[in-house]
Amino acid sequence: MQGLRKLKQPNSSLLIMLIFFGGLLLHHSLNQSASTRTQFNKTTELDEVLRRASTETRTVVLTTVNSTWARPGSVLDLFFKSFQIGYDTRGFLNHLVIVTTDEPAFLYCKSIHRYCYDLTKEFPNSNYKTLSQRKTTLLGQALYLGYNLILTDADVMWFRSPLRHFIPGIDITTSRNYYTDGVGNRIERADGGIMHVWTNDRSINFYKYADVLRHLYPDLNEQTIFESTLEATGDMRVEYVDTDYFGGFCQPSKDISKVSTMQANCCENTEKKVHDLRLLLDEWKNYTALPPEGREAAKSSFSWKAPERC
Ligand SMILES: *[C@@H]1O[C@H](CO)[C@@H](O)[C@H](O)[C@H]1NC(C)=O
Ligand SMILES: *[C@@H]1O[C@H](CO)[C@@H](O)[C@H](O)[C@H]1NC(C)=O
Ligand SMILES: *[C@@H]1O[C@H](CO)[C@@H](O)[C@H](O)[C@H]1NC(C)=O
Repeated sequence: MQGLRKLKQPNSSLLIMLIFFGGLLLHHSLNQSASTRTQFNKTTELDEVLRRASTETRTVVLTTVNSTWARPGSVLDLFFKSFQIGYDTRGFLNHLVIVTTDEPAFLYCKSIHRYCYDLTKEFPNSNYKTLSQRKTTLLGQALYLGYNLILTDADVMWFRSPLRHFIPGIDITTSRNYYTDGVGNRIERADGGIMHVWTNDRSINFYKYADVLRHLYPDLNEQTIFESTLEATGDMRVEYVDTDYFGGFCQPSKDISKVSTMQANCCENTEKKVHDLRLLLDEWKNYTALPPEGREAAKSSFSWKAPERC
């Protein structure tokens, strides 16, 4: 969810408008559930890759990359590296599906990984905008097919398994961020760098609704779509995880003994991002190489060296 990095205050009249029109459309689309089912059922290739990558409990990890991130030495390589050096994270690579948005990214993915899904193949002639719509549709399809999703951006470094944060009964668990409103209040917002969605009727409806909004308003950022959908559907149970566990360069985790993931957010430039991600990985390696007493001591005075260039 790259769009979520730009923290903007939503425009409330726009939100109300979205909710109204989106509501009408959702109502309409739910009345046509048979045709929706057909739409979500044209998914043999997707189904196949999800089935192969799925855990026994029908969970898959999903990330989306283009060829800027999926090339030798770029973000995707460092993403893989984090799984290899994290605590209890290596196994997730067996359940990771990489969704690619251009052909070079797909070819690179195939060269390093088993489960790659080419979004442009199923939806040819897509431009960047329609591709992010396709992605929302795809997530709805995956939920509809009965998979629980762990959605992660590829610039999220996985240092510890995030599973213990994904509580049954909570529909969506997400990393969070803050912004400060006009009068100085700190407002919590979903950040979407890492997010878990249980498949159930509520989450399927949530993505159906988000899908409609995306098609109606292709220029809206993902955060606004997320919030409008949340408000309109009303019954979603959402949990925002503390930044000490799911941190990022915008709001770093302050505790390396707790941190689960760190994202190189608040950093648009890929070269700078790659540099600072390397720094994060180095720091993690140094930390894990310490004896237990050293790790305990490092904890008290800890702050990340990264970001340095972002
Ligand atoms: C989806 O398609 C498969 C075969 O392609 C069919 O067996 C199944 O019943 C369909 N499911 C729904 C919900 O329409
Ligand atoms: C590739 O993805 C990155 C990260 O999402 C984005 O910043 C960049 O603009 C994309 N490049 C192209 C050519 O779409
Ligand atoms: C990791 O440890 C090496 C060797 O002590 C040191 O040179 C390097 O600066 C450390 N890196 C980080 C990011 O802390």
